[in-house]
Amino acid sequence: MVDAAAPVIAAAAARDGVTIAWERLPYGADHFLATGETLPEEAFAHLHDGVDAIFVGALGDPRVPGNEHARDILLGLRFRLDLYVNFRPVRLLHESLCPLRLPVTAAPAASAAPAHARAAGAADRTIDFVIFRENTEGVYLGRGRSKAVGTPEEEQIAEEVHTAPRVSRILRAAFEWARAHGKGLVTMSDKANAVPAHRLWQRLFGEIGEEFPELTREHRYVDALAMELVRDPTRFQVIVTGNLFGDILSDLAAQLVGGLGLAASANLHPGRPGLFEPVHGSAPSLAGKGVANPMAALLTGALMLDQLGAPLGARALETGVAAAIAAEITTPDLGGTASTGEVAEWIGRRVEGVEVG
Ligand code: IPM
Ligand code: MN
Repeated sequence: MVDAAAPVIAAAAARDGVTIAWERLPYGADHFLATGETLPEEAFAHLHDGVDAIFVGALGDPRVPGNEHARDILLGLRFRLDLYVNFRPVRLLHESLCPLRLPVTAAPAASAAPAHARAAGAADRTIDFVIFRENTEGVYLGRGRSKAVGTPEEEQIAEEVHTAPRVSRILRAAFEWARAHGKGLVTMSDKANAVPAHRLWQRLFGEIGEEFPELTREHRYVDALAMELVRDPTRFQVIVTGNLFGDILSDLAAQLVGGLGLAASANLHPGRPGLFEPVHGSAPSLAGKGVANPMAALLTGALMLDQLGAPLGARALETGVAAAIAAEITTPDLGGTASTGEVAEWIGRRVEGVEVG
């Protein structure tokens, strides 16, 4: 997938005069199995200081049942580079992709346009929101303890950590993004009715929200939010939540707009290089068959180009993906018969301005 997507992303960047010098690192399951090494210290140092962005394909391999390499590389980079915003846009690129019975239309491809600028055509109900997932704490820290392992009395304790500075910064990032993009509604989700620690989210959401008086705030317990996302996802604009709930909700949300084959994600620390990886995993059953959908990687590339100062290229990737879907140039997950390479090449020709289909 990366082989197919990388040249298209580079071609898109060229539209802004940005040249991408790809450097390919070997870390992954093969490397781990051969060497026992997940992400060596010098590689980490290089990713910390020596690059403008990190693009990740997918991690996870049945030969590594403990998932050590994925945790070290992906979660390790999120934590150690302090990439506290996991930004996951959810946008309906074509109405045929929505599995709900609701009448919905595709979101305009360049929906970077502020919501108020689109108000004229607001009769069209579409799905176009973003998830801000906290990316550096929660239950993902892996803290805890166990006892009596392997016995009938086994006990596993996983600690969930929420600290005011970290909750504050993800809430602020969501509010600031909403403000900068002309959105009016920010939804925060937790499970404070069962987990008292989550009350911290509620307090800070109210306090920080006061700095953004033009934004409407609403709170949903995560169970209710899951239900509402299926009942009517069109009303959401910005959802901000913790690490685990953000993980779960982003898969649910992805399926509302075509599935994981289309779901892009960026791990960000504003002002620093980001790590860009599709929401999906490695889908080992598809590996090597040429059927994996490269669109999530291309849309993730668009998020990367936005950060690298190539917005024209980013929009070209987004419109290219939408055009391919409309033209039914898709992999089997979206009902098509095209291969990974064919989809990427078709979008690549369009990005380069060559007449296609
Ligand atoms: C994701 C993935 C990861 C996560 C896994 C691979 C650890 O599901 O990026 O959403 O849970 O964060
Ligand atoms: Mn996930």
